[in-house]
Amino acid sequence: MTVSPHPETVVRAAPAVDAYLPGFGNHLATEAVPGALPVGRNSPQHVPYGLFAEQLSGTAFTAPRMENKRSWLYRLRPTAQHPPFVPYARDSLIRANPYDTAPPSPNRLRWDPQPIPTEPVDFVDGLTTYCGNGDVGTGVGVSVHLYTCNASMQGRAFFSADGEWLIVPQQGRLLIVTELGRITVEPEQIAVVPRGVRFRVELLDGPARGYVCENHGAIFRLPDLGPIGSNGLANPRDFETPLAWFEDSDEPVEVVQKFQGHLWQSTLDHSPFDVVAWHGNLAPYRYDLTRFNTINTVSFDHPDPSIFTVLTSPTAHAGTANCDFVIFPPRWMVAEDTFRPPWFHRNVMSEFMGLIHGAYDAKAGGFAPGGASLHNQMSGHGPDQASHEAAVKAKLAPHRIENTMAFMFESCHVFRPTRFAMETPLMQLDYDDCWAGFQKAQVPLSGAAQ
Ligand code: FE2
Repeated sequence: MTVSPHPETVVRAAPAVDAYLPGFGNHLATEAVPGALPVGRNSPQHVPYGLFAEQLSGTAFTAPRMENKRSWLYRLRPTAQHPPFVPYARDSLIRANPYDTAPPSPNRLRWDPQPIPTEPVDFVDGLTTYCGNGDVGTGVGVSVHLYTCNASMQGRAFFSADGEWLIVPQQGRLLIVTELGRITVEPEQIAVVPRGVRFRVELLDGPARGYVCENHGAIFRLPDLGPIGSNGLANPRDFETPLAWFEDSDEPVEVVQKFQGHLWQSTLDHSPFDVVAWHGNLAPYRYDLTRFNTINTVSFDHPDPSIFTVLTSPTAHAGTANCDFVIFPPRWMVAEDTFRPPWFHRNVMSEFMGLIHGAYDAKAGGFAPGGASLHNQMSGHGPDQASHEAAVKAKLAPHRIENTMAFMFESCHVFRPTRFAMETPLMQLDYDDCWAGFQKAQVPLSGAAQ
């Protein structure tokens, strides 16, 4: 049954896909049809065009105002109108806590990129969970999925009740159709879809591959800047939220949801992308990583990589992130009398890394675009032998690192790899060898223990 309020006013093609509202976390208001947004109240007795008003909450009602996230959606039908969800009928490599199918490994781990599938696979079925931590039930930690797909989602929509999705494309442009509007995103851009928001991923130029950080904890926000001041790192105005867009379709749509780590499905008799207007501060957004204002030393030493944080999901423990999304973009290296690549280190935080393109400056090879590495709590790591040797010998002129974009999901919770991640032939069993060739430092014997 068609319930379009005014079929003659349904504009399927407008606004243009690349129409966005600038700013991070703003309270926004947008309508795809003039007059669809109620004025002056959220839930009037009579919503314009007979639309259904629905609140989408991202935080508890009573969360402090500065953290409170919610939006009001005005749609053709309420989300509540759906048949029961049943367990997902297809095989999936999505996993969730307790991540106990393989013992957590203390080893440094690295994987080759996943090949693009040969059979048609869409975004949902192309997801593979590599690792995760925390607990989806209590809202702690993250899950890390990689996707490879060669087909658009057709007649399907997906959402996660377990957390917001930070999508990091590595290959291929995506059109992400969401309930609140459409986002295009390509390598070196990211998209974030809030918890619970339905979305459909279409491929714009062929096969696609990338990474997902599913954040079960506090919603991503911009990091505090401290002494950096009021500008720098990711600037708020460079984040973009789509304008309202909807489709008025009575074709069946299979909705797949991730709930407590498991997939479920239900079939609607209409499109879930039927939000004609919305307002609020909980919405999907995108960000162009090349706009990141990279800050680093102009004197000596290499600051902690937290200086490259784009977004952070805090915990109640000040300065200790449930997850930091950190990037390593092109930048000038000018430090004097300094070992310029990332130094050797062992951290209480755990690090999952990926590479969008180019090379990462701490590794001479083996860390390929589309690949991944995991350095868990207290595992010693840093530059490989070749990178160390080159950096020690380098003439310290100003040098620009070009054509690269690596990133890190850094968490205070230890990542636990899935069985797939531990058993896939993509794992590089010789990863430790990159640190095997260091020559012992030579020190005078005088003063040493005899
Ligand atoms: Fe590290």
